[in-house]
Amino acid sequence: MAYKFKSKPIDPSEVTPEDVYLSRRDILKAMGIVTASAALLAACAPDLPDTANSGAVDLPAGASVDEFGDPLNTYEEITNYNNYYEFTVDKQGVARLAADFNPEPWSVEVSGLVNNPGTYTMDDLLGKFPTEERIYRLRCVEAWSMVIPWEGFELGKLLNQVEPTAEAKYVRFETLMDVDRMPGQKQRFYPWPYQEGLRMDEAMHPLTILATGLYGKPMPNQNGAPIRLVVPWKYGFKSIKAITKIELVAEEPETMWSTIAPNEYGFYANVNPNVDHPRWSQATERRIGEIGRRASRMFNGYEEDVAYLYEGMDLRVNY
Ligand code: MTE
Repeated sequence: MAYKFKSKPIDPSEVTPEDVYLSRRDILKAMGIVTASAALLAACAPDLPDTANSGAVDLPAGASVDEFGDPLNTYEEITNYNNYYEFTVDKQGVARLAADFNPEPWSVEVSGLVNNPGTYTMDDLLGKFPTEERIYRLRCVEAWSMVIPWEGFELGKLLNQVEPTAEAKYVRFETLMDVDRMPGQKQRFYPWPYQEGLRMDEAMHPLTILATGLYGKPMPNQNGAPIRLVVPWKYGFKSIKAITKIELVAEEPETMWSTIAPNEYGFYANVNPNVDHPRWSQATERRIGEIGRRASRMFNGYEEDVAYLYEGMDLRVNY
């Protein structure tokens, strides 16, 4: 069943199927407005009216906008501007360097504090957990963002399957370690393999998905084939790619970025326009495909869905 966003709803009449939908960009193009000003207009476009604010909204499959009415980024944008240090630190070079990566066969080991550990092939996962489309904003800690139509299933469904024990408080994720297939792993500065973590309630939240594709196609190599995490209210670095291990643990796990620079990349990494990165502001962001900047939203716009997870916590301390 489609996830009902509690955050800002959109009037369903604003959303039409992909084949008939004219995005704002297409409309502007059709009007003959030059690209630069079109992008400016898109950046400055007011939010859609806050309709009844009835508390939940369904986005029909194949919608071309997110629940704020913002257009999806194109497949080309999403697959040609990537962060994937296992290949290169050059965002525009990942697609080329990852082109020959073969994500088959693949399996994900789920272990640790669980009653029912297991190793799942991609066929096992896709057979057990049907995927659905989730249109999410991805907000990188570097202050750029995109709107991406992922295909995936809720991580919580897999976790329920392995039956976490009462001691399991966190989930730890690990990317494939294979220097021959991921040449960036030769760069010894980084403590490979890439690892990430979530608190148990974050991992079980229905917005948290394991994504296996985007735009209805299998996951492109550069976006983390064949399976990656997507946690839309957190900075993009939490959304670890090419996962081979998921471990249920009792203590907060180390993450690659918090190991390298703990004062810059905290464990929680919730999108928060009020807490700046030590080296830059997080108040605004650059939506790829637009000129100019737009205001960043608390929890990347998912505040009503997830704020309860952090009640009573100081988000400046737990950044
Ligand atoms: N996962 C791995 N294994 N290696 C990485 O370098 N980069 C992260 C995240 N997951 C990264 C990763 C960062 S910083 C971001 S912003 C997102 O992936 C980018 O995802 P995208 O390339 O699909 O947009």
